[in-house]
Amino acid sequence: MERAPGLSVRLRLTLSYAGFLMLAGVMLLASVWVFILRNLPEYTGVPGGVLIRSTLMHDFASAAGVELFILLMVGLGGGWLLAGRMLAPLNRITNATRLATSGSLSHRIRLPGRRDEFRELADDFDGMLARLEAHVAEQRRFAANASHELRTPLAISKALLDVARTDPDCDTDEVIERLDTVNTRAIDLTEALLLLSRADQRSFVRENVDLSLLAEEAAETLLPLAEKRGITIETSGEITPVVGSRTLLLQLNMNLMQNAIVHNLPEDGTVWVNTSVRARTVVLTVENTGEKLTPQLVATLTEPFQRGTERIHTDHAGVGLGLAIVKTITQAHDGTLTLTPRPAGGMRVTVELPTTAPRW
Ligand SMILES: Nc1ncnc2c1ncn2[C@@H]1O[C@H](COP(=O)(O)OP(=O)(O)OP(=O)(O)O)[C@@H](O)[C@H]1O
Ligand SMILES: [Mg+2]
Repeated sequence: MERAPGLSVRLRLTLSYAGFLMLAGVMLLASVWVFILRNLPEYTGVPGGVLIRSTLMHDFASAAGVELFILLMVGLGGGWLLAGRMLAPLNRITNATRLATSGSLSHRIRLPGRRDEFRELADDFDGMLARLEAHVAEQRRFAANASHELRTPLAISKALLDVARTDPDCDTDEVIERLDTVNTRAIDLTEALLLLSRADQRSFVRENVDLSLLAEEAAETLLPLAEKRGITIETSGEITPVVGSRTLLLQLNMNLMQNAIVHNLPEDGTVWVNTSVRARTVVLTVENTGEKLTPQLVATLTEPFQRGTERIHTDHAGVGLGLAIVKTITQAHDGTLTLTPRPAGGMRVTVELPTTAPRW
């Protein structure tokens, strides 16, 4: 909002300094004046006594006038310099703000000196800029990855269509079959992206749900997949009431269990799903056997489009959004997500959510 320009803070501070200095000067001189008036002899019996007294008073008044003038000059000059020094950090902060507004997020104020109010403001501002810069970089990376992933199925479809058009001996049924697969993958990817943005915006209906029921539902749905891969799912736990979106929390369970099945041992793998209640939170853990994982690798897996190095089952061509979605859904429900590699191989994923409705 544009406002009419007022007196600058520097000028106002200068005037205040000078004003106070003048006030102190006037009070001092007034007290001296009163002191002189009280203690000056009356000279009543002395010839020309009244004249001496009035000359003295007159001299004092003119000296006081000169002194007040000097005080005013010192007050204005000193005040201007002092205010300039005091406000210098503010100028640096203002400059940094302007730069940030114009899109340059890499600039930092880095205010030197001891910790005071300005330094705190500048440090907090620098911290905010760093977070903003990281966030923008993450968004850009995400958009680039998403575009790349979406282009791949489109490029494959185009190649298939080109072959179908130019090659007279091409097997149309096979082309249709492959186009269907590629198309399904593109739809899955788009749906995953939409889900991610929906959870990110926290624009969902909250209701009372039991996490353990959702875990069971997900386990039931994924049972055929588990059986196909020779994996046993063991579910256990207690009633775990939470407030949140049923659809999103079911999706969270599905993603975790699908991962636990798909990224498991080639055969005879196990998945353990457990729900439990703590003092203020409920905890869902999904644990699975599998390859040995390093903590460094595990720390990166919740990043969008981040996939593990080796793929045991080549028929699962994941896009690497499953855990990113789980993380976003957990955060949208004010919960925490922890991934830990199991010493014997495989992974343990823990989702901790508040039991009662969070306040905001
Ligand atoms: N339970 C798990 N055990 C072992 N590795 C896992 C597990 N869950 C995830 N991973 C590793 O983390 C990576 C990222 O998982 P994420 O679910 O985000 O993507 P994805 O499963 O590859 O693809 P999709 O988007 O289809 O889920 C996987 O590629 C896999 O290497
Ligand atoms: Mg996955």
